[in-house]
Amino acid sequence: MDNLTEKIKARHNRLASFYDPLMGAMDMMIRKSDQEKLFSLARGKVLEVGVGTGRNFPFYPVGIEGVTAIDYSPRMLEKARSKLHQSRVSVTLLEMDAQNMAFADQSFDTVVTACVFCSVPDPIKGLHEIRRVLKPDGRLVMLEHVRSENEALGKVMDFVNPVFLNIFGSNINRRTVENVQAAGFAIEKVEKFNDIMRFIIARP
Ligand SMILES: C[S@@+](CC[C@H](N)C(=O)[O-])C[C@H]1O[C@@H](n2cnc3c(N)ncnc32)[C@H](O)[C@@H]1O
Repeated sequence: MDNLTEKIKARHNRLASFYDPLMGAMDMMIRKSDQEKLFSLARGKVLEVGVGTGRNFPFYPVGIEGVTAIDYSPRMLEKARSKLHQSRVSVTLLEMDAQNMAFADQSFDTVVTACVFCSVPDPIKGLHEIRRVLKPDGRLVMLEHVRSENEALGKVMDFVNPVFLNIFGSNINRRTVENVQAAGFAIEKVEKFNDIMRFIIARP
């Protein structure tokens, strides 16, 4: 793991203890209905990248073949382990870097991410890895916050980004839709939930 990844990972380890109360206070960022919608699209063998504290477990739909959920933060995984009972399908938790996954090519039917690609240190590398492990007819489904398209607000986001990166290990000015395309995916759908939240479906 490179130095930058180690540094951002340490921030996520630190964040793990107060991540759930923090997200509870920011309900508009990821709404329950959006989590439901995200996981309703999961089919077959599912990979959740950046599982965090396991906030999405209740939304894993019955009928899928099971979920493999990865995170590079052992502290986040510790929290997730205590919530495994909330899932109705079998979940395998693994400590793994999204930028360098240990899975064979074409292993999964669906890859899901929720507020992860704001923080993966090299997002294009991580997205290339996701493309590699997806089956050719598989789908990437994402719920991610991005840089505002409002130029003034976008510039404010650029300006304050270092503060967010230092405290939370998260960039608020990522252009994730463009990054998905740059990694070679074909965008099937982009839905704007509001100025910064995007629901993205892409094919490898
Ligand atoms: C903002 S949290 C989102 C957690 C969860 N998806 C949710 O909806 O609550 C981002 C998560 O991505 C993980 N993450 C960031 N970069 C990663 C990487 N390169 N490999 C694996 N996990 C990563 C962090 O450790 C953190 O748990």
